[in-house]
Amino acid sequence: MLFPVPLVFLLSLANCLSLSPFAFPGQDTKPVPGDSPLLLCDSSSSQLLKLTHVDVLPNPPERGTNLTIVARGDLSKQVDEGAYVEVDVTYGYIKLLHQTYDLCEELPNVDMECPLKKDSYDLTKIVEIPNEVPPGTYTVIARAFTADDELITCLTGSVAFPPYGSKNLLKFLLQN
Ligand SMILES: *[C@@H]1O[C@H](CO)[C@@H](O)[C@H](O)[C@H]1NC(C)=O
Repeated sequence: MLFPVPLVFLLSLANCLSLSPFAFPGQDTKPVPGDSPLLLCDSSSSQLLKLTHVDVLPNPPERGTNLTIVARGDLSKQVDEGAYVEVDVTYGYIKLLHQTYDLCEELPNVDMECPLKKDSYDLTKIVEIPNEVPPGTYTVIARAFTADDELITCLTGSVAFPPYGSKNLLKFLLQN
């Protein structure tokens, strides 16, 4: 389900770095029902995707474990090719990433494909969070839009990984 998009991002972030949803969440947030670090952002804007439930296990996510994400939501309008997701990741106060992804290209990561029909969706995804993720607080914001710039969803979240050795941070920075 889901928003596959945001989820995809969160997932890939989880894969690649750490995970966490992004920054400058702004004030306009509302909790997403369920047990997860996610918040709905831009919540006063109308959004095509309504997430009815998201669980993340373990919550909060931990390094060196498999993170299971279960999400459920309702999409009120079909999403076609050309949809995109803007993702921002901050690490502490540092802006780590600002990237635009093609939504339809990312969907196969969660076993979905475009067009996404107007429907209810259920998604379960397991991602491995590497032990090498540097400690710190990561904030992610993912905004998904249709090709016509209609907001599909805005999700944000923060995850803090406890310290464990500066060697890993250095390695991480050098690799990126
Ligand atoms: C995570 O899942 C993969 C694939 O099922 C498995 O190979 C790996 O050992 C698991 N990792 C942990 C930490 O449980």
